[in-house]
Amino acid sequence: MKRKTFLAALSLPVVSAVIPGKEIPGMEDFCKTQRDQEGPFYKADAPQRSMIEKDGVPLTIEGRIFKGSDCKSPVAGAVVDIWHCDRNGDYDNEGFKCRGMVKTDLEGRYTFSSIYPPSYGNRPRHIHVKVRAEGFEELTTQIYFKGDKNIRNDFARNADASRVIELVTEGNMRKGHFDIYL
Ligand SMILES: [Fe+2]
Repeated sequence: MKRKTFLAALSLPVVSAVIPGKEIPGMEDFCKTQRDQEGPFYKADAPQRSMIEKDGVPLTIEGRIFKGSDCKSPVAGAVVDIWHCDRNGDYDNEGFKCRGMVKTDLEGRYTFSSIYPPSYGNRPRHIHVKVRAEGFEELTTQIYFKGDKNIRNDFARNADASRVIELVTEGNMRKGHFDIYL
């Protein structure tokens, strides 16, 4: 190979998202969604409901859950356990305000509606998520939102770009999409 051709080959972009992890030795975890801190306010046994909270700016998140080993097989029956602060920036530790669980359907789809949580302190706006599915290690992570200036100031510095989602605004409603890889 001529030197010029070789250099051109080296500079080809790697389209990482479409390479199934299992075909690359040592890359089995290739697609896995990055973990994030649980934080101090997780509470087990949240109610099963797709409408979690109405008091605030409406927000709907939907997405699919896939196997991280091949980046494409849907995970049906996975439990998505959601918690976030209320419109005043408070977590409810007495009851289950702003807490809920939903399950994925046969295509791995999930959706829930709640509020666009405010930031508090200098933490950016975020939604905590735990995902449990048979045969997979539990995933604990957080979803962040594009354009949030606090992402740069976050003391935890854990808002990886892969978990910062873009919201579409329709009237007073915000909608976002977040796929999860176990
Ligand atoms: Fe939090």
